Amino acid sequence: MSLRTCSRRLGAVLQTQRTVLPPTSRRRYASAAVAASNLPAGLKDAIDSDAHLSNPDPQSDSQTARLVDAQSPYMVPTYVRPPPMFQQGEGCYLWDVENRQYLDFTAGIAVNSLGHSDPEIAKILYQQAQTLVHASNLYHNPWTGALSQLLVEKTREAGGFNAGKVFICNSGSEANEAALKFARKHGRSVQPDGSKFEVVSFHGSFHGRTMGSLSLTPNPKYQKPFSPMLPGCKYAIYNDIDSINELITENTCGVIIEPIQGEGGVNVATPEFLLALRKRCTSVGAVLIHDEIQCGLSRTGKLWAHCDLPTSAHPDILTTAKALGNGFPIGATLVTDEVSSKIVTGDHGTTFGGNPLGCRVAHHILSRLSDPELQTAVLKKETRFREHMSRLRQRFPSIVQEVRGRGLILGLQLSADPTPVVTAARERGLLVITCGTNTLRFVPPLVVSEAEIDEGMGILEQALVAVFEEPGVVEGTRGQQEMEER
Ligand SMILES: Cc1ncc(COP(=O)(O)O)c(C=O)c1O
Repeated sequence: MSLRTCSRRLGAVLQTQRTVLPPTSRRRYASAAVAASNLPAGLKDAIDSDAHLSNPDPQSDSQTARLVDAQSPYMVPTYVRPPPMFQQGEGCYLWDVENRQYLDFTAGIAVNSLGHSDPEIAKILYQQAQTLVHASNLYHNPWTGALSQLLVEKTREAGGFNAGKVFICNSGSEANEAALKFARKHGRSVQPDGSKFEVVSFHGSFHGRTMGSLSLTPNPKYQKPFSPMLPGCKYAIYNDIDSINELITENTCGVIIEPIQGEGGVNVATPEFLLALRKRCTSVGAVLIHDEIQCGLSRTGKLWAHCDLPTSAHPDILTTAKALGNGFPIGATLVTDEVSSKIVTGDHGTTFGGNPLGCRVAHHILSRLSDPELQTAVLKKETRFREHMSRLRQRFPSIVQEVRGRGLILGLQLSADPTPVVTAARERGLLVITCGTNTLRFVPPLVVSEAEIDEGMGILEQALVAVFEEPGVVEGTRGQQEMEER
């Protein structure tokens, strides 16, 4: 049994008895507790059940902690991470350096849609690495164009927007930077006096960390240390038609929206709102950008989330990344021919973007992710998740409030801090992350099986029991979403 776990249990009990002890004393008491025979029955049961945790977090004297302590002094502290260190993956599972197995419902934040260490992807990476990794965008290669063509063809085939051309880059933020520049250039071509430069985005959105994409991400906590933001960025209210009519004006060159907000809490834009947004953009001559970096590439059961919408709601630009490389860094900005007609040589560029290695692997991944069978399976799996979630709502009516999302981007809205659930689930072998305010986020590999969904949701149930039936015992896990509200 984990000494640390006992310490937590006993600490919680002592706390409810209003006894405050320094952490070292708690640890000493904890070791005594293991042997004590006169503990309250509930506590004994709790200690006993924790003894069966499959994956208790590595403790401060573990091999993992030693490794983390040795390495972290060299890393800029941009992230706070939970204790385990992952070193291997296969399918929907990860293994840490202590060889403990975790079912992964995070897929590297909606990245590993085809699972970890996919053998075909590994083979392609190996073959192409032996053939040509990079030669520069100053020269032609067979794969940048092939991937661009496939993105256009698959988008049209899937009933998506009228994509004509593609710019390939290395990440989501970069795809949004390109979209932003293209919108500005488009605005300047429509209004050469330079007055059409404003960009509207939405509260609750997340578009990335670079200065442009951060300027479109209205979270004061993350913008303030780096202010001033890009001039002309305005923030409207998601799903609020009045707010768009007010903020989107003749001075607006572009509007960017996630059809489903990922980091913001798995908030789904209504079709009426997206239609109104398109209409307003058209009426003022602003380009409409859909950021499908998290929700795209069949995560909703359609190639793109906007494929469900009538063409009168379709965007002019679409950004994608994440699952496009299944972990290999790559992003893309898809534009209509009309938008592309405003871009000339030298307007934008990248050293690594479009390299043959990334493009060949993304070409393969896109072929597989656009398979209708996979998309149908995603919807079936959504149903399975939702059945479990409904059951959890019934079992924890005051805690589990709402299920949001589409396909395999789902959010479970809790009435309380979900971070202890993240910890409790991890210590039982399941990885989940949070988003928005008190939302648990489920973005598993799209290849997750129904048996794995059952397994994971079973673990989640145990985690909810551990957290909410013995409040205060399990500590929260910080840093499990890109943008934290609190
Ligand atoms: C919707 C959305 N846009 C943009 C980004 C930024 O992508 P990246 O981290 O690859 O720069 C993210 C990342 O989480 C995202 O979810």
